[in-house]
Amino acid sequence: MTPEQQQIRELAREFAENELRPNAEHWDREGKLPRDVVAKLGELGFLGMLLPEEFDGLGLDTTTYLVALEEIARGDASVAVAMSVHNSLPTQMIRAQGSDAQKERWLKPMARGEMLGAFSLSEPDSGSDAASLTAQARKVDGGWVLNGAKAWVTNGGFGDVVVAMARTDTADDRRGAKGIGAFIVPTSTEGYIVGKKEDKMGQRASETVGVAFQEMFIPDDQLLGEPGMGFIYALQGLNGGRLGIGAIALGIAQAALEHAVAYAGERRQFGAAIKDFQGMQFKLANMATRIAASRALLHQAGDARESGGNAVQMASMAKLFASETAMFVTTEAIQVFGGYGYMKEYPVERLFRDAKVTEIYEGTSEIQRTVIARELYR
Ligand code: CAA
Repeated sequence: MTPEQQQIRELAREFAENELRPNAEHWDREGKLPRDVVAKLGELGFLGMLLPEEFDGLGLDTTTYLVALEEIARGDASVAVAMSVHNSLPTQMIRAQGSDAQKERWLKPMARGEMLGAFSLSEPDSGSDAASLTAQARKVDGGWVLNGAKAWVTNGGFGDVVVAMARTDTADDRRGAKGIGAFIVPTSTEGYIVGKKEDKMGQRASETVGVAFQEMFIPDDQLLGEPGMGFIYALQGLNGGRLGIGAIALGIAQAALEHAVAYAGERRQFGAAIKDFQGMQFKLANMATRIAASRALLHQAGDARESGGNAVQMASMAKLFASETAMFVTTEAIQVFGGYGYMKEYPVERLFRDAKVTEIYEGTSEIQRTVIARELYR
């Protein structure tokens, strides 16, 4: 790591150790995060890590951001996903496609943490096949009127502004991936209806909601880029977003390994600490090795994004490998803890639940494999 990366890592670790870890179990049980956590992330600059200084961001490179995000996830994965979605998707989409006026209006408060961002692509009947979405944007004088139902929106009610995808083509003019627009939608907009908060297996403190658009008017100056290009912008955003999910998976895995190592050193059976048994050593060694490989792949993917390598394939590889590592490591960590690992009072139970969704959101492992394989033939 560069000295700058080490410094950012220390800052993130200190914040996570002092403010997140001690609260993670409570927030998981309550199923919600206090809003001041977001304000603190903003004060530390963690909500503008990838934005240039001219937009009040820290102007850091992707790998440095991933280093910080891993530390936040090591403290609490629910906080990390709020941070990841905000940094990787809405802010990057506005940065890449927004007009100067849009950047001035939205990016600065987002970078400072005064506005938390969300991303809305999925719908009840459109998940992996994201281009099949049916929410409709109808052109009217001065803007667009949006109608439809969206699903699984992280920060969808808790956040302040959502970049939402809806069809800009009409029913008899369907153009698949090329007929979708991306709209900047403040959650306070009339017709933006927040549905029920999902009761999830893991990352329970992170807010995931369904949203309905009911005759929701969005002015022209809140359309991003070209009206038919929103799906492409969303996929471009996800190329970065998937790295963020890889970093979250890595932070969860690292936390689980540390708990397992500590427990195996303390727990005595058959007259010895269980770490002295080869069966346990092999488990811990496999966990540590997969984590190190995930981190190397993730940082390589982060560097590829900065230097113009095959960022699409690398991002999918890093997300796939890190999320499957998180599932492997948390499963093994429970095994190391034995019966205690299955109890809610030990943190590995929560880490196991938190890990699962990293194999699902921002593209399932099956979609990542599809993307990786497709790139082999380009
Ligand atoms: N980056 C940029 N552009 C891309 C791209 C990528 N990764 N993948 C495809 N495209 C472009 C293609 O080049 C194509 O454009 P052209 O016609 O100009 O060549 C266009 O997009 C359409 O591509 P495809 O025909 O390949 O599209 P497809 O319908 O076959 O599907 C897919 C592609 C990879 C399966 C895509 O739908 C996908 O990634 N699905 C998963 C959806 C997903 O990740 N959802 C996440 C939900 S958000 C979430 O979870 C956030 C949260 O809150 C935590």
